[in-house]
Order: sequence, then structure tokens, then C-alpha cells
Amino acid sequence: MPNVVVVGAQWGDEAKGKVVDYLAERAEMVVRYGGGSNAGHTVTTGGEVFKLHLVPSGILHQDVTCVISAGVVVDPAVLVEEIRELKGRGCPLRNLRISALAHVILPYHRVLDQLEERSRSKLAIGTTGRGIGPAYADKAARRGLRMGEFVDDARRPQALRSRLEAANELLTRLYDTEPLDVEAIVCEYDAYADALSAFVCDTAPLVAAAARGAKGVVFEGAQGTMLDVDIGTYPYVTSSHPIAGGACIGTGIGPTGIDRVVGVAKAYTTRVGAGVFPTELTDEIGHHIRERGREYGTTTGRPRRCGWLDAVVLRYSAMHNGLGTLALGHLDVLSGLGRVKIARAYKIGALITDSLPYDLAALEHVEPVYEELEGWSDDISGIASFDALPPACRAYVARVEELVGVPIWAVSVGPAREQMIVLPGRSAGR
Ligand code: IMP
Repeated sequence: MPNVVVVGAQWGDEAKGKVVDYLAERAEMVVRYGGGSNAGHTVTTGGEVFKLHLVPSGILHQDVTCVISAGVVVDPAVLVEEIRELKGRGCPLRNLRISALAHVILPYHRVLDQLEERSRSKLAIGTTGRGIGPAYADKAARRGLRMGEFVDDARRPQALRSRLEAANELLTRLYDTEPLDVEAIVCEYDAYADALSAFVCDTAPLVAAAARGAKGVVFEGAQGTMLDVDIGTYPYVTSSHPIAGGACIGTGIGPTGIDRVVGVAKAYTTRVGAGVFPTELTDEIGHHIRERGREYGTTTGRPRRCGWLDAVVLRYSAMHNGLGTLALGHLDVLSGLGRVKIARAYKIGALITDSLPYDLAALEHVEPVYEELEGWSDDISGIASFDALPPACRAYVARVEELVGVPIWAVSVGPAREQMIVLPGRSAGR
């Protein structure tokens, strides 16, 4: 299998974990390339549900090496707990590797994330509060702590103390809050370093070698294209690069090493946190989607905002990611809606445009131009072949493909591995 990037094509939560898990079966390695414990990847297999935040979704396959690469920000407390839970459920973690270059999320990152959100007041981003923004800010400001240094017993105490003392200055002087207990944290983090040190190494050569091998590598994106810090709906975005290009930053391969880019989208749209959402539905249909789709955050439990599928967003996503194919999930959630809609363009004043305006202010005022299609009422969650889906459902998939201009290789009709249906004659190729 060639090297594939699996990328969220919307605002995250597209069920990338399931697609990664599916592709991982034939791969040598799965590499998580960005984000942190803001992500929540759910993999359902054999009736068991695994909720992963940092460990790559390939971990349930025994022979697959799973790498947390340099672009990820690692919260040691979360990772140690995740490893403990996975081990407790019989999942061997001997194939997990963590890049020595990945940055560490420390307690003050979490505290600052929450304080910064509070100070934004009405303009709050609705972050997950997991310290993501402050950790990436420290990385860019060249004062972050990396995993290699963190697990080095000779360097860690001083590295932690100096950063915690500087953070306490900020907390007490700028935010007028209680300082953190430096020595208690140093002691707590000793235990995390001890638990993680065996996994930390120089992962890039491993990835480079696997990428040259016959089985190949699956690069697992976190969040989604519209949350990318550059091309997402800034400033209502995360602080990393979820787009496919992010897979080439510090992982061990360059752009020429990627053979395929698979976008993952839901058959509708969701978003958590604040920011524009042109096709949002605040009516009963939005409610239907939220309840049927169990649209509540894996990480924070927050109800997700729900709306119709937005082909303008997906075309934008296809361009920025170079999507070769698309997996369209959660089709079963749309069952029973009578009629279904897809936004094919936007109206801005008198202007109709089929592309996304770069300017957030303009995006706030767009009105979606919808295309209405016949819905389907049957429960499709037990259907195992594309041809057995109701004709209206197949017509919906075909129309999405036409409007987005990217071939759809698979659809899903439920959360389980077995509920992914590959379209006849299609593969995750291109
Ligand atoms: P942060 O990544 O916690 O800083 O949050 C920034 C924005 O990204 C907020 O709107 C979050 O709700 C959103 N976000 C972060 N991670 C995810 C995710 O995994 N799925 C969906 N939205 C996310």
C-alpha cells in the first residue's frame, strides 16, 4: 500500500479514526502528524468502543507501528492515562513511538488556555481548554519543552522549574491568579517521564524507512481543514496544520513521499466551538442530526452544531489538501428526513459565488444556495453493499461527488468497522 494521508475535510469530527483504522490493516505504520489531546478519535471494533486522544488510531492492529510525530503537542498526563487504559483493555503498546521533537503540554498551558478564553469574553474561540494554543505559541516562540528533553532525567528538573517559574510570573502578575506548585508538578511529571521514556526516540528515520517499504504509511490528521491555523476560519481555528501538507512537517517524509490524500467528510456538517458556519441548522432538522448522529464532542462532551452538507467548503478543502478521493460518513444519520439539502454556492449580497471568501467578515454574511434532493426513510445501518442502498441515497452520494469534483471511494452507515462500504470499482487511490 502506498503512503496515504487521511485528512478531515470539514471542521473536524469527521470520523477519521475509523478510516485510519480501516486503512491501517494493510499498512506498516500509522503516523499522527498534528494537534494534541484536543482530538478525540473513536474506533469501534468487535462491539468495543475505543476513544483515543493522542495514540494513533492504528494501535488496535497488533503489527502496525504507531508514531506520534514532531508536529503533535503531547500532554504527558493524558498520554500516560490513555496508555494505561489501552493496556488495561488488552491492547499491547509495544509498537508505540513518540518523537523526541514533539512538544510537551504542561499544566500552565491548560491554565493559560482557559484564562485566555475567559479574557476573550464574547469573542471566545470555544477551545477545548487542553492547552493547545499556548503550547504551540511556546513552540513558535522557541521556549517550548520537547519530549526528548522531558524524558532526560538530567535535564528535566531544571527545564521544568525554569518554565514553571516563568509561567507563575505570568499567572500572578498578568492574570492575578494563584501560582502553580512548582515542586509538586516536578514530582508528578517525574512519574510521567518515567512511564513515557521507553517510547521516545528519533521517529523520522523510522517513518522514512516505512514510507519506502511495500506496505506504506497512513498519516493520520487530527481536527479538520477548516480549523487549520492558516486556511481555516481564523481566528476560530486550532493552532496547528490539520491539512494534508501538515503530514510533511517533521514526520520524516517530504511532499513527494505522499502518494494519496483521502478526505473524510460527514454527509452533513458539524462544528464545535465558535465561528462561522453558513449551513448551520438551529431547527428540528439540526436537532435530528445531533441526536441521531450522537453529535457530542468526544473530548469535551459539548453538543456539536449541525447543518447541511456544504459543497463550497468541500471544494475549498479539496483544493488545499489536493484530495484524490473522499470518504463520506454518517449517511445513516440523514435517513428519515424527507428531503435533504446540499449548499452548492453562496450568495453574498447580489453576488453568487461557488468559492469560499477568504475574508471572515464576508463569510459571516453569506447565504447558502441550496440544492434540494429527495431523502430516504429506510434504516440503512445494516446495509453492506453500495448497490443495496436506497436509490435516493445513492443519488445523494453521486450529487455530492459531482458538486465537490472528487471521487467518493467509500461511504459509512454506522460507527463500526464493518459499516464502511467501498463503492464498486473504487479504491482509496489517487
Ligand atoms: P483548541 O484546538 O482546543 O485550541 O480549539 C480551537 C477550536 O478548534 C475550537 O473551536 C475547538 O472546538 C476546535 N477543535 C479542536 N479540536 C477539535 C476536534 O478534534 N474536533 C473538532 N473541533 C476541534
